[in-house]
Amino acid sequence: MAENASRTAVLVCQGRAAAHGRLAPERFADPTAMPLLRPDERVTVEAVRHGEAPRDWRARVAYEGILAITELMVPRTVAIDDAVRDHAAPQVVILGAGLDGRAWRMAELRDADVFEVDQPASQQDKRARAAALSGPPPAYVPVDFRTDDLGAALAAAGHLADRPTTWIWEGVVPYLTPGQVEATVGALTSCSAPASRLVVNFQLPVPLLKLGFLAARALARSTGRRSVLSREPWRSTWTPRAMADLLARHGFTVTQDHNVLDVAETLGTPIRRGRSLAQSQVQVADRG
Ligand SMILES: C[S@@+](CC[C@H](N)C(=O)[O-])C[C@H]1O[C@@H](n2cnc3c(N)ncnc32)[C@H](O)[C@@H]1O
Repeated sequence: MAENASRTAVLVCQGRAAAHGRLAPERFADPTAMPLLRPDERVTVEAVRHGEAPRDWRARVAYEGILAITELMVPRTVAIDDAVRDHAAPQVVILGAGLDGRAWRMAELRDADVFEVDQPASQQDKRARAAALSGPPPAYVPVDFRTDDLGAALAAAGHLADRPTTWIWEGVVPYLTPGQVEATVGALTSCSAPASRLVVNFQLPVPLLKLGFLAARALARSTGRRSVLSREPWRSTWTPRAMADLLARHGFTVTQDHNVLDVAETLGTPIRRGRSLAQSQVQVADRG
């Protein structure tokens, strides 16, 4: 794995792999997740799938981490997939795609031009892993939202600004500052024709967030590992109102607002860490 490739992208992929075929199987499936993982990354996933909690402390911490992410990924994925499905668009752009398998797994995207945007190191890693998947790959567009021109990179890859686009922005906003989030929304707006849709997932502000991070780091240190949060720290959280206002400034109207805990309750999926699910929001915004 490239040294600078995203570790959080692997974690959420492990969550989807652990959930596939087990949690809400009538509403959630991701057969691409396991093939996108390296053999060593599958070990804990298999333990979670078989409910085999390890006795060893280090392995147990990893196991509990994947278990928690598994609970989060099912409702988050279902909310986003539903919003993509009910709004057919000729182009789909997955922003900060990580190890997202939607380009391969969603039949609804087969007739669309699909673009995956990600930091160069994460994207290089994804391309190597995706050799295990069958089906046409998306167009890969290396972009760092902090420094690069999203519109120019997409145009060079064949994205057409005068055709509607569905934008999927899942699990990326927390890693950007408020200014970088606003700039990225501005950049995608300038290549969003009318009837475009943005599906954005973000984290809500919660009390004692910093304390939670310190605890997570201490727990990781107790196993001799570095917390993924120390390399990929959170830089912004948003209230639903603040995000809706930001989107409105750029001509997008929020038409759906889902709290991930509510989605999990509707699906009837396990809720052991309700506070973590309640912290995650999915908004769907349309451009008239
Ligand atoms: C938690 S992963 C989510 C991946 C994927 N969207 C998913 O939900 O499976 C975070 C992703 O955001 C990407 N990312 C973080 N900061 C970024 C930036 N400044 N520019 C581009 N991508 C970024 C990482 O490379 C990584 O792929």
